[in-house]
Amino acid sequence: MNGGTVPLIGLGTWPMDDAECERAVAEALQLGYRLVDTAFAYGNEVGVGRGVAASGVAREDVFITTKFDRESHSVAGAALAFEDAARKLGVEYIDLMLIHWPNPDQDRYVEAWEGLIVLREQGKVRHIGTSNFLPKYLDRIISATGAVPELNQLQVNPRHLQRGPRAYNAELGIVTQSWSPLGQGTGLVELPVFADLADKYGCTPAQVILAWHVNVGLCAIPKSSNPERLVQNLRAQDIDLDPADIATIEALDGTEPDVKNPDTFMH
Ligand code: A2P
Repeated sequence: MNGGTVPLIGLGTWPMDDAECERAVAEALQLGYRLVDTAFAYGNEVGVGRGVAASGVAREDVFITTKFDRESHSVAGAALAFEDAARKLGVEYIDLMLIHWPNPDQDRYVEAWEGLIVLREQGKVRHIGTSNFLPKYLDRIISATGAVPELNQLQVNPRHLQRGPRAYNAELGIVTQSWSPLGQGTGLVELPVFADLADKYGCTPAQVILAWHVNVGLCAIPKSSNPERLVQNLRAQDIDLDPADIATIEALDGTEPDVKNPDTFMH
């Protein structure tokens, strides 16, 4: 990232509503989280902003990410998306703003990217990036503008490794951040392999999964509003996994039951 680092573990907020978000964000920040991820589409930016304000943690110590949708894919649209998000969040600037999905059907993601570049130049947004951008979409926005995204969020978990897109991000110096790192309630956490490894490391199965993300160089934004899990998830970054266990975990690749395809996903 230009001039800074991204916390390894942040708080994901989908599908929390405003009220739940306000509580969870305040609690998470008080527990030591420093990154909160939201989006226009989640409908909870107001709750995120209230949670940040209620936490007692200084605004400049919190890294707030939000994203905008297909209807804002233009320079003017991105500017309006920023104004809307900043108002809802109650902030003067946004730490990281992302194009949520490429939406190739409407083919306006280059204009969306140009809009983010302007927002960064204006200082309204500190960092800019993408979400769900496969290499072909990255190539297009970079060759059109010369500007490389600072971060690209991808759906990554042990059943969906996304080796190719991750390697491409790395080659370009783009931080990869895993969304739904715990598989979003699809049964990943409950797989026996994680119970076995949790016994070995003296932690929980979810911690094994989050430790895997961090051990292989990913940042992750697990969602929880449960105080015990919030602590567990943050502390997972301190667990070192043996290479053989990382290989065992990665043998699950290709078994994700709910892959969202960036070529066709409509948001
Ligand atoms: P909850 O919000 O009740 O804690 P993802 O981040 O991949 O989208 O996954 C979120 C899901 O994982 C939610 O259902 C969340 O439930 C659950 N979850 C979050 N943290 C943990 C944890 N430490 N142990 C088990 N499940 C967890």
